[in-house]
Amino acid sequence: MPAIAVAALSARALAAAARRAGLEPLVFDLFGDADTRELAATLVTLRRRAGFAIDADDLLLQLDTHVDGSCPLVLGSGFEAMPDLVDRLAARGRLAGNDGAVVRRLKDPFVFSDLLSALGIPHPRVFAEEAPLGVETLEKAIGASGGGHVHPARRTRGPGHYLQERIEGGSASALFLANGRDIRLVAFSEQWCAPDAASPFRYGGAAGPIALEPAVEAEVTRALGRLAEATGLVGLASADLILSREGWSLIELNPRPGATLDLFDRPPLPPLLRLHLDACAGRLPDLVPLRPGPEVGARAAGIFYAPITFDMRLAHLPPHAADRPAPGTRLHRGEPVCTVFGEGRDAEEARGVMLLRMDALWHEMQGAAGETP
Ligand SMILES: Nc1ncnc2c1ncn2[C@@H]1O[C@H](COP(=O)(O)OP(=O)(O)O)[C@@H](O)[C@H]1O
Ligand SMILES: [Mg+2]
Repeated sequence: MPAIAVAALSARALAAAARRAGLEPLVFDLFGDADTRELAATLVTLRRRAGFAIDADDLLLQLDTHVDGSCPLVLGSGFEAMPDLVDRLAARGRLAGNDGAVVRRLKDPFVFSDLLSALGIPHPRVFAEEAPLGVETLEKAIGASGGGHVHPARRTRGPGHYLQERIEGGSASALFLANGRDIRLVAFSEQWCAPDAASPFRYGGAAGPIALEPAVEAEVTRALGRLAEATGLVGLASADLILSREGWSLIELNPRPGATLDLFDRPPLPPLLRLHLDACAGRLPDLVPLRPGPEVGARAAGIFYAPITFDMRLAHLPPHAADRPAPGTRLHRGEPVCTVFGEGRDAEEARGVMLLRMDALWHEMQGAAGETP
């Protein structure tokens, strides 16, 4: 079976996508969860830098040890703040994805905002230091992910941060394939936050497919096509949107396969990692976007964050849980414990099922831990 190397903060979804595409995954991530281990032909748990960051030297060393230059490498989350590392990885061999130059343009908030203006794509204004009077803003860290870095603020705390105009509306995300010239929309999902005291916009999960107004879907599709053409974007990528009654706004572009693989890498869609590799080689599929309908069930995937510090004592997590920490793992309050899936006739129902399962699972985990917290 041909091999593929995948690296991300958590690479479980990419490893599963590789299996579905008939590829043996050589996996590099920070968690080394039990199910990632089962999926992987080789699993290397990378050294963590402070705040869940990838250690560039460790990754390069591990790739040199385990992966030869002819094996394609797919990157997931965790590289947006490290375009230089992406360039070094591209220089090593076959990077199936965007090089550092594309990442730099899309993840520099000011370059990105100017690009969107030039392309006529609606987006929030950005400010380097202070919000002008009368503009409500959120502070974000450049190149960060997971939403934990997003806070309401009128001034930035310092270098590496910026302010973005706050837009009222619902969060959605478009999953699409790009070949450097054009795109194919895969599906839209809704996203929600799992706030805690320190991070009101921490990523909570996503459910889909959802339907957008046909006119909005057409506009977003055309906008993403122009963006791909202007930047040379390739492969699976996602665009985060705010949808409001007045219209839509593009708040961020993730130039890599992301969390919504968990929602959409299943029938009726073909193996998405195969489509990613083809798109990186310039080929886009004939694909009708996945839209909700009686034949198409919906799926939700939510992150369960540890409400308190505890030890994982459950030997077996149910099949609707993924990113399963090995028994004995100590989970600190606020850390992601696992991902929980839910299914339903539509996204709302799938999310409801997921939430009930999350509650039941926490109950079981506390029971197994033995102590009352
Ligand atoms: N400009 C904005 N206006 C309103 N809400 C926002 C804005 N930017 C981000 N958010 C909220 O914060 C979440 C995370 O923001 P995002 O920029 O996607 O961060 P990350 O890169 O960590 O995913 C979004 O899904 C949305 O709920
Ligand atoms: Mg986002």
